[in-house]
Amino acid sequence: MHWLSEFKERVEQNVPLSPMTWFKLGGCAQHMYRPNSAEDLARLMRRAHEENVSTRVLGGGANVLIQDDGVNGVVIRMDDPGFQGIDFEGTRVVAAGGADLMRLVLECVRRSLSGLEGLAGIPGTVGGAICMNAGGKFGSIGDCVHAVQLLSLDGTVRMVSKSELDFGYRCSGVGRQIVLSAEFELVKEDSGGVRARYDEAWAAKKRSQPPLKAHSAGCVFKNPPGHSAGKLIDQAGMKGETVGGASVSAEHANFIIAHEGATSADVLRLVERIQEKVRRKFGINLEMEIDVW
Ligand code: EPU
Repeated sequence: MHWLSEFKERVEQNVPLSPMTWFKLGGCAQHMYRPNSAEDLARLMRRAHEENVSTRVLGGGANVLIQDDGVNGVVIRMDDPGFQGIDFEGTRVVAAGGADLMRLVLECVRRSLSGLEGLAGIPGTVGGAICMNAGGKFGSIGDCVHAVQLLSLDGTVRMVSKSELDFGYRCSGVGRQIVLSAEFELVKEDSGGVRARYDEAWAAKKRSQPPLKAHSAGCVFKNPPGHSAGKLIDQAGMKGETVGGASVSAEHANFIIAHEGATSADVLRLVERIQEKVRRKFGINLEMEIDVW
């Protein structure tokens, strides 16, 4: 890919991706690009689009499984400080796409700004969280989004209001576009209510899910309408089910834990085994929530 030499100061070849993901699994990125500004990223996107080369942004790596043979094309990492900013102006907050979600949530709680406290303990970047409309029973990130600045695959930047997006259960309508920044409209509260709800969300997570230090990517499957994927997998008797180094968490059946020596292929075989068993027992298809690259 000789055209990439135009970007050579910030491009690397064959970069191991496993350390950048929460599963700690998978192969290398054929090319990795670390832009130093939105303009620089737009230029890369334009050129990749012209050359018909696939581009993907790796956010916090919290909801992705990289396959063992790695990823073709260009993997983008927005870890430059220019993509990490969080700016407060009254009840409006603008967070850059590469900003850490847990930091954003905590900064809002400290300022008694309500809206994001239900996202306590969810790892990842703001951009990744917007793309999948991350959340749970205490709310989703899309609930308090006001507008999102998107970079499209052909390198065009545009501001999109919430009504032009399509937030739903674990979806946003952002697709493969890149979230440069997101603007949130929050509500100022006087008492300690925001902190109390944040603590409650964190405590519920700690009570029912494996600890963040376990190598997993959160819930593997989406909840089918009217059901809980975790409950179905549990009722199918699959807690502790193991393939190679991957096993169904004993704490929450919708989590797969990758132990020492696990491969991505182990995880994918376990995924298929779970889907098959739940289909046979309940006639329900479990759709994956995590992104497989
Ligand atoms: N349950 C079981 N066995 C299990 C797991 C759950 O019986 O092994 C039962 C629970 O007792 C409960 C029901 O299933 O009655 C629902 O479980 P839970 O409250 O843990 O919620 P969930 O629907 O499994 C969702 C999100 C989580 C989020 C929590 C809390 C999905 C797929 N999962 O879990 O999100 O943290 O609510 O807000 O929507 C994620 O998306 O990665 C994730 C972890």
